[in-house]
Amino acid sequence: MAASGEPGRLWQEEEAAAVVVVGSCMTDLVSLTSRLPKTGETIHGHKFFIGFGGKGANQCVQAARLGAKAAMVCKVGNDSFGNNYIENLKQNHISTEFTYQTRDAATGTASIIVNNEVKTLFNPAPAIADLDPRFYTLSTVFCCNESEAEILTGHAVNDPTTAGTAALVLLERGCQVVVITLGASGCVTLSQAEPVPKHIPTEAVKAVDTTGAGDSFVGALAFYLAYYPSLSLEEMLKRSNSIAAVSVQATGTQSSYPYKKDLPLALF
Ligand SMILES: Nc1ncnc2c1ncn2[C@@H]1O[C@H](COP(=O)(O)OP(=O)(O)O)[C@@H](O)[C@H]1O
Ligand SMILES: *[C@@H]1O[C@H](CO)[C@@H](O)[C@H](O)[C@H]1NC(C)=O
Ligand SMILES: *[C@@H]1O[C@H](CO)[C@@H](O)[C@H](O)[C@H]1NC(C)=O
Repeated sequence: MAASGEPGRLWQEEEAAAVVVVGSCMTDLVSLTSRLPKTGETIHGHKFFIGFGGKGANQCVQAARLGAKAAMVCKVGNDSFGNNYIENLKQNHISTEFTYQTRDAATGTASIIVNNEVKTLFNPAPAIADLDPRFYTLSTVFCCNESEAEILTGHAVNDPTTAGTAALVLLERGCQVVVITLGASGCVTLSQAEPVPKHIPTEAVKAVDTTGAGDSFVGALAFYLAYYPSLSLEEMLKRSNSIAAVSVQATGTQSSYPYKKDLPLALF
């Protein structure tokens, strides 16, 4: 992810993306039922819908809706879900130049981060305890939630104080900046430059559906890093909190992500 360009302007295919996301595109098949079926049991559901998900694509969609020139690097299957997903990315004005289709549905994707003068925002989801240590040293910003911080550090994380302790452990592993999101409590951050944990609270809102809030937050932070690099980190985090707070007030994942036109001008 490199810092360049003006937000909000429609971009041409040949222009370089300012936000590049390497991650997953998933089709969510959601059945609403009154209870979970037992093994092998068939039960009646009352509603079914298909949604666009995948943590990487969610983050990319949120950045694009704020006006970022964004590109998605991932693989989808060569089937109707894959075709529809590519159409969804295009509708969100995301470049699909590096979105590939494969016949092998089981193909996994690997995230490779090369540190060449670009800012890298790494979101270790889903977290594994023995994460390759290069992910810490190659990340400009390492952003995770409470449970991911707990898996990575082995320290229980459930409030700003314990998040600060875990963030310090992650900082010592070589990240330049660590951000731990705390749901309705906002987030905690610290950096090599200011290694004292700082709590960035968020406004209280009536949460309807918090699914994908973390991806909305990470997508917004990528947008600010790329387009407003001179803002202080604290200000970027306050604004990312505000954008993620909008996403929890509507149902669904990408369907709850706000567009620039629907947000207060003060956020831009
Ligand atoms: N109930 C809430 N009220 C306001 N903001 C929220 C709420 N839940 C989440 N957020 C915002 O979304 C961000 C990410 O939420 P969090 O629950 O930590 O991530 P995840 O979706 O990964 O579990 C928080 O840092 C905060 O800015
Ligand atoms: C995808 O499927 C179509 C028709 O089913 C075929 O023409 C095309 O070559 C396939 N592409 C890949 C990458 O497998
Ligand atoms: C953190 O994100 C993971 C996905 O990596 C999710 O499974 C988990 O529920 C989230 N934790 C919290 C506390 O929201």
